[in-house]
This record gives sequence, C-alpha cells and structure tokens, in this order.
Amino acid sequence: MDSIVVKGGQPLSGQIQIAGAKNAALTLMPATLLSEEPLTLTNAPRLSDIKTMTALLQSLGVEVTAMKDGNVQVLSSHALTSTTADYDIVRKMRASNLVLGPLLARHHQAVVSLPGGCAIGARPMDIHVTALEALGAEIELKDGYLHAVAKGGLKGAKVALRFASVGATENVLMAATLAKGTTVIENAAREPEIVDLVKCLRAMGAQIEGEGTSTITVEGVDRLGAASHAVVTDRIELGTYMLAPVFAGGEVECLGGRLDLVGSFVEKLDAAGVSVTETQAGLKVSRANGRAKAVDVTTEVFPGFPTDLQAQMMAMLCTAEGTSVLEEKIFENRFMHAPELVRMGAQIEVHGGTATVHGVDRLKGAPVMATDLRASVSLILAGLAAEGETIVSRVYHLDRGYEHVEEKLGAVGAQIERVTG
Ligand code: UD1
Repeated sequence: MDSIVVKGGQPLSGQIQIAGAKNAALTLMPATLLSEEPLTLTNAPRLSDIKTMTALLQSLGVEVTAMKDGNVQVLSSHALTSTTADYDIVRKMRASNLVLGPLLARHHQAVVSLPGGCAIGARPMDIHVTALEALGAEIELKDGYLHAVAKGGLKGAKVALRFASVGATENVLMAATLAKGTTVIENAAREPEIVDLVKCLRAMGAQIEGEGTSTITVEGVDRLGAASHAVVTDRIELGTYMLAPVFAGGEVECLGGRLDLVGSFVEKLDAAGVSVTETQAGLKVSRANGRAKAVDVTTEVFPGFPTDLQAQMMAMLCTAEGTSVLEEKIFENRFMHAPELVRMGAQIEVHGGTATVHGVDRLKGAPVMATDLRASVSLILAGLAAEGETIVSRVYHLDRGYEHVEEKLGAVGAQIERVTG
C-alpha cells in the first residue's frame, strides 16, 4: 500500500491548478443513463472514484471513452444491458446510488445495492427512497439490494425532503426530468454540484428551474438528447490547497478558484487572520506574519461551512493561537483524524459531535494513518507544518478524491513524495 512522506517547514510559492469537482462528476456521469444520445464531460477529474463510477456504468452497458488522459469522458447509454448495480462495485463508493433515479426514470426499474463508501457514519438511503416513492416508484429492500419499479413510468409530484440531502436531491432531480408532469422538490440541497448537474441536464433538454435555491421545479419531458458539459471547479480541492500556505507559510494561487464556491470557508479564514485575494485566474492565499487565530466552526449544508473541509480546518486550528470549537452537524463519527493529529502533538478533545482544539506552537512529524478521504489530506497538510517527517499510510483513500497530490504540492515547493509498496 502506498504512503506519502512529507517533510515540514518549507514555505510554498506558486500556482496550483484546481481540478473539476469529484462530487459533480459522480452525479454527471450517471446522468448519461437518462438519454440514448452521448454525453461529453470536459474538465473531468482523474480519480479512483471516477474509475469506480466508470466500472459501474460499464457494468450496466454504458460505453465510456476517456480522452485526454481522462480529462474528457464520452458516455453513451444507447444500449443498456442491465439495470442492476452490483454490491461488489457499490460497496466501494456511496455515490454509486446515483444510478437509481436515472435508471428508474428511463427504464422504469432498477436494482441497486445499498452503498458503502467512507466510514463516516450510518449514511442511510431513506430520503432517496421516500422521494422516489413520491414519484410513484415501488421500492423494496431484499438481500441488501433496493428493488425499485415504476410501472408505466414515474409521475411528477410534490416532494418535500426531510433533510436537504445532496445525493437524494440529485437522484430525484434526475428521475423527475423524464417523469410525466411537474415535480416540485422542497428543501432541496443548494450545493454548487446540484447547480452544475442542472446546467448539464438543461443542456440535454430538461426543463428545470430554481437550482441553487431550496425549491426546484422540474417539468418532465419525453426524452433527453446529447450534450457537452464542463465540470465545475472542485470547491473541496480548492479549499484544501488554499490551506496549504497557511500550514507551510508562503503564498499560493489556486487557479480556477472562485469566492462563490467557498464563501463560508473564506469567512472563517478571514476571522483566523489569513489573507485571501481574488485574482484574474483564481484565488491567492498567503499567511500573514505569525500564527493563525482560533475560530469556531460548525459544518452545515451549503452555503454553510462544508463538512468535507472540516478535517483540513481542524488540522489548521491545531497550531492556531487559542482554543477553537468544531461542531460536526452533517455526519456522525467524522473526527477520526483527531487521534492521528494528536499523535503529531495536537491537543484535541472530542465529545460526540464536538471537538475542542487547543492550539499548540508546533506539530511534530509522526507515522499516521489515513482513515477516510478528507482525513487523509488533513494529515498531509499537518505534515507541511510539522517539525520533521510525517508518513501518512493507507493513502488509497486520498486517491479517491485528490489527483496527483504530491505533484501539485511538490510543484509549489513542498517536500513530499509517494512511496509505493
Ligand atoms: C455528498 C458528498 C459528500 C459530502 C456530503 C455532504 C457526493 C458524491 N458526496 O454525499 O462528499 O460530504 O454530500 O455535503 O456528492 N442521510 C440520511 N438519509 C438519506 C441520505 C442522507 O439520513 O437518505 C444523511 C446522511 O447519513 C448524512 C447526511 O444526511 O448524515 C448528509 O448526507 P447527503 O447530503 O445525502 O450526502 P451524500 O449525498 O451522501
């Protein structure tokens, strides 16, 4: 298993190109199931999660052609051979459940294994199921699989989500594009990846209004066509690399970065005394003299502070001046990085969904273990600031969501290498 070795203490300087969003690509790819005609995605990220989604779609009969080293994906669902998403693939990644809505919409049936993915809480599927049932689907759980049918096709309806789940909003949105009549999704998720999905569906011919707000209205159409769509910038990769100079010192410009994607995160950086400036090409971050200041952070649905940046922010606050309180409101059990950071000298107390971080002067390098995708990158960031060498093992989690992390950080001056084996 590969590990990443980081030697701390090197200030950074230069530019980092931010990739297309993993979480957008993982919902855009299954959108191909809604149409017989090809869907071309540009600015696709090159990640193991994308390979997993490719394998899942291929197992359904989708033709997937990757071009430009995987940066461009052409997907064609003209001849599907299966409507079953098998456990062997689904267990690797929760986002596999995003084939459920499109398969039901176009093929009126789907059998989808209950998902796996990061071990960050229970992550059930009840909101997806209730929403699709509101559109007329009959769904049963048998042998670990959701068996869904929509005899005569889905019908538009009012769907009120009990929580603004990102995945459930995406599933019901895709399903509603081919349902008969009007669907109104209330308490819809407002994440930029939802807005990106709507842009793509609209390019395919869907009739949708209200994306980016809590109420999305979909007017069902008979069929969707071909489209080409550029995947939105990855706001989580953006936030992660924006933090790199805060750990290591120096200045980094994140190319493709936009303030509207990371508003609540930038507010917290500002409160911590970190300077962020907009440039023509993106966002530039530099650490002012001295340590960052402690700030309290609560994770929330968009436009609140993203749970996917909580681990990285916690790592940053380990050496901030003062005490910070982090509250995790989206996932239970999402502080698995805390004990690893403590191994590096951090002072953190976790009680349920709250972590209290007492800032220390310096972290010290140590062998640590990645436990999930965002936890693993938080340990690499911590290593940039630590005295000595940090060895992060089990980095397969990292490869699910960050392309060439060692190259991107190495190019701006970090001492970082991947050790294979
Ligand atoms: C997506 C992102 C993930 C991010 C999360 C929250 C993708 C591929 N993944 O995950 O990176 O951390 O949004 O921003 O886009 N829940 C239920 N029942 C359901 C569905 C969800 O109880 O039917 C709960 C989950 O257990 C969790 C919370 O709702 O506690 C948020 O989940 P959700 O918004 O659905 O996240 P995902 O779409 O899985």
